[in-house]
Amino acid sequence: MKHLISLNDLTLEEIEKILNLSEKLKNQQKARVTHHLLSGKTLGMIFTKSSTRTRVSFEVGMYQLGGYALFLSSNDIQIGRGETIYDTAQVLSRYIDGIMIRTFDHSDVEDLANYGNIPVINGLTDLLHPCQILADLFTIYEHKGTLKGLKLAYLGDGNNIAHSLLHGCSKVGMDISIGAPKGYQCNENIVSNAKEAAKISGSNVVITEDPVEAIKDADVVYTDTWVSMGQESEKQARIKIFEPYRVDGNLFCKAKEDAIFLHCLPAYRGYEVTQEIIDGPQSLVFDEAENRLHVQKAIMAILMG
Ligand code: CP
Ligand code: NVA
Repeated sequence: MKHLISLNDLTLEEIEKILNLSEKLKNQQKARVTHHLLSGKTLGMIFTKSSTRTRVSFEVGMYQLGGYALFLSSNDIQIGRGETIYDTAQVLSRYIDGIMIRTFDHSDVEDLANYGNIPVINGLTDLLHPCQILADLFTIYEHKGTLKGLKLAYLGDGNNIAHSLLHGCSKVGMDISIGAPKGYQCNENIVSNAKEAAKISGSNVVITEDPVEAIKDADVVYTDTWVSMGQESEKQARIKIFEPYRVDGNLFCKAKEDAIFLHCLPAYRGYEVTQEIIDGPQSLVFDEAENRLHVQKAIMAILMG
């Protein structure tokens, strides 16, 4: 493992290694046991989009690992004024030990990895959000004690979160059903990659327009905003189209009785999920957000250690 760009690039063993180390680092952090695995190392964090969780959890994580994190807003560095990805990758490789990048075009992250000599971590693109989904898998494992054989239902937009869930669930042997409206379904290549992985892990991938079919008997119910970063101008149209996919009490009760609710956050109560569900007893959204910290520390320790 040289970079973390897509969960499709990882083997099951690599995913398990990240989850096992996450558990160890979480326990050490809770017990206040020092674990300076990246002492003297620096992470550069390039942001072309907003962030609360990703920015804070990577920065705090690096600090807890004994290293240092630099926040590099694309408004302030030369990449925002047209300096090439090639030159940026070459220059940053001379100063720092790893890059985390959040941006629009997925190919920019791949280019940064190809042109530089240091590990690159995808902190979200329009296509994928692998760090989030590793934290989600860790959260599910913590609460269910297993991953294999569980069913996750994702309702709403076939976006970056849905894509990384397809990659992640199919690798670890979880069934995944995506309920999304026509025109907003997942990228076909990603669906076919997931179906391939599911054959190996013995799981199932279902793509449907029917939210009830998707959520039926699910162990994990997941949704995300209907309006991702960069889609603000489509907001009014999207709100109408996604209405039947809102996770409310009527829909959630079709999942298993002990189903858990996840959301990557930020959430918009009353749109993709009602308050009774996201703030209800089966919601784990803040454990999930916390786990970004522990899982990303594991990712950085493995890639940059
Ligand atoms: N879930 C997530 O990536 O949150 P931020 O946009 O706040 O980083
Ligand atoms: N799909 C959302 C995820 C935010 C963490 C977006 O891209 O804005």
